[in-house]
Amino acid sequence: MSIVQTIQKEIAPIFAEDASGHDLHHINRVLEMSRYLQSKEGGDLEIIELAALLHDISDHKFNGGKLNEGGNAAAVILHRHAYPSERIEQIKEIIDSVSFKGAGVETHAETIEAQIVQDADRLDAIGAIGIGRTFAYGGHKGQAMYDPELEATSHNSFEEYAQSKTTTINHFHEKLLLLKDRLNTDTAKQIGQERHELMLKFLADFEKEWNFKSE
Ligand code: ADP
Ligand code: NI
Repeated sequence: MSIVQTIQKEIAPIFAEDASGHDLHHINRVLEMSRYLQSKEGGDLEIIELAALLHDISDHKFNGGKLNEGGNAAAVILHRHAYPSERIEQIKEIIDSVSFKGAGVETHAETIEAQIVQDADRLDAIGAIGIGRTFAYGGHKGQAMYDPELEATSHNSFEEYAQSKTTTINHFHEKLLLLKDRLNTDTAKQIGQERHELMLKFLADFEKEWNFKSE
């Protein structure tokens, strides 16, 4: 079995029970999109595949609030399989750069491998599936779908973004609508355009239905 297949098998039970939008299907979609982006844009396929599989292994929303644990958790797993240390370092860096940390926080992906995994993860947060995941996450958190009194905020630190109280509709303005312009590769930008437009249409219809009046 290849290292990619081994890790795929090992992580499956960890993500199997998730109802917050971080389930195994998300991981597999990110893996598949990463492979596609790699076929167009290049980069080390095995590093990309392993980073895609492990990118959500210790998310701050589900590990008790620790903000930068993902890379370390991935490294522990890969070391256990005696994977080469310098490649583990690369994967660790990718995972720590993938996550969105607030509108005002730069999350720069330096290498093509990091750019690809970041793009694949972001593409899965927008479009039809992105809309679905966002409502799933909001329901899981018990957060209101919409509250006209609560304005969207532009967060300037990861801590502030991670701790703020918001609504699912505000999350579109605080994160999802910003992603189109933060994609790295041309291939992802093309795919992202259509997904972005679908969200705009969805938000316009949502507002129209919310404000329906009898006269
Ligand atoms: P990803 O796994 O793509 O990195 P996140 O870990 O940030 O995404 O979050 C998982 C999913 O939940 C994404 O679709 C994201 O947009 C959504 N999400 C994150 N925070 C909120 C929130 N406060 N309200 C609604 N959806 C959210
Ligand atoms: Ni993810």
